[in-house]
Amino acid sequence: MAGDARMTGIELCASSELAERGKAVLFDVLLWNESVRAFALRFEGRAVAYVNRCAHVPTEMDWQPGEFLDDSREWIICSIHGAIYDPRTGECLGGPCLRSRLIEVPVMERDGKVYWYPSDDVQPAFAD
Ligand code: FES
Repeated sequence: MAGDARMTGIELCASSELAERGKAVLFDVLLWNESVRAFALRFEGRAVAYVNRCAHVPTEMDWQPGEFLDDSREWIICSIHGAIYDPRTGECLGGPCLRSRLIEVPVMERDGKVYWYPSDDVQPAFAD
C-alpha cells in the first residue's frame, strides 16, 4: 500500500477547495510514526503542503484551524511566537527558527484533485 501510494499519491481534496491564499485543508499523517496534522494551501496558483509543526517548538501553528497566512496573505505565520515562513519553500525567513524550514509534503494536482505523496518521514495515518 505505502509503496503504491508513493507512486500514485493519496487523494487529499478537490483542487477547488484550495482557494488562492485561502484557508488550508488539514489532513492527518504520521511523522516518524507520530500522529500529526499536515496542511495544504494554494499560493501563486500552486498547491503546497507542509507538516503542521513549527521549526521552533514542535507545535501546531494555525491561529484558527486551517488559518496559516498572515494578514498580508504573503507568509505562513506561526501563531505561537510569530515565526514567518515562505509559503513557496517552507523556509523560515524571520523569527526564532530563522533559516530552518517546515517539513514539506509533496503534492500534485491532476484531474481537478490534489494528491499528496508519502516519504520515508511522512507516512499515511491509516493502517494498511
Ligand atoms: S513555536 Fe512557532 S515560533 Fe515558536
